[in-house]
Amino acid sequence: MLVHAIPTNVSYEFAAEVRDGLTRAEQKELPSKYLYDDVGSALFEVISHLPEYGLTRADERLLRRHASEIVDRVQGPVAVAELGSGSGRKTRWLLEAFCRKQRTSYYPVEISHSALVMCERALSDIDSISIVGFEREYLDGLLEVAAYRTPGQHLCVLFLGSTIGNFDRAAGVNFLSRVRCVLQPGDSLLLGTDLEKSHSQLIRAYDDELGVTAAFNLNLLARINRELGADFNLAEFEHLARINEVERSVEMHLFSKRRQVVSVPAAEVVVEFREGETIWTESSHKYSMDEIFETARKAGFRCEVQWVDEEWPFAENLLVAE
Ligand code: AVJ
Repeated sequence: MLVHAIPTNVSYEFAAEVRDGLTRAEQKELPSKYLYDDVGSALFEVISHLPEYGLTRADERLLRRHASEIVDRVQGPVAVAELGSGSGRKTRWLLEAFCRKQRTSYYPVEISHSALVMCERALSDIDSISIVGFEREYLDGLLEVAAYRTPGQHLCVLFLGSTIGNFDRAAGVNFLSRVRCVLQPGDSLLLGTDLEKSHSQLIRAYDDELGVTAAFNLNLLARINRELGADFNLAEFEHLARINEVERSVEMHLFSKRRQVVSVPAAEVVVEFREGETIWTESSHKYSMDEIFETARKAGFRCEVQWVDEEWPFAENLLVAE
């Protein structure tokens, strides 16, 4: 199978976004998508096996348990696009169910090259599948996938793993609306959402005992060192997970243990940190079952079915484009 797209000039964009985020007068921030270089993607893979972090396993259980039911509800014939395929492990159950019904094209869209290669390798043994990967940002990739659509063919977009949670609620609706613009009525979107749960459970999930999430977060600074020639001293920053009760999210930050100055040559910037100042690196918004209907509606979809995991509150939502 071939990896289709030539990556865009990521490093220039990375430098610009790092400069922008680290020169904020108030809260410094870095976009969470940059957590996923090869090292970060591998660390996330480890996180998904941690006992404290049940999200990925809940997602996978639901997809395995309800694969045929989900596929029966999707209007066919269909091509499947996945936004952020990761290793592709949990997608197998769905794709096998799709391929039992018809020969199926699967288009993973993924910014991590290594994750894309892994995903293609992991799934290429499925009977009657054809895989074309796109090393692209979600919407760019989805637009290209849509161009491959044959007459009468529906698209089924997979947006699993509660990646939607990385957007704040308004941006989530905005993103789904943009996905909707690429789709036609009757096309579907399978959306995975992590549901609200106790604060203590959330903190344990995002600040695990072994320190894998801490390494995942700190890797962002290591990445800036590697790719932009910065001189972050990782020992002078600490991983922090905190609940934002207003946003109903868990935030990850990198906490500066002391006053320090860091230079990022490729971003042409020198940054000063106060003692105790943080860089906000990610938010994971948690959803209630009910608000997903409203979210879907605002974005031009109708939420048809929801499947919920019993062990770890998580929902798989089938949205249909209106
Ligand atoms: C893959 C974005 C869903 O927000 O829970 C895991 C990433 N961050 N631990 C999440 C993550 C810290 C994860 N998502």
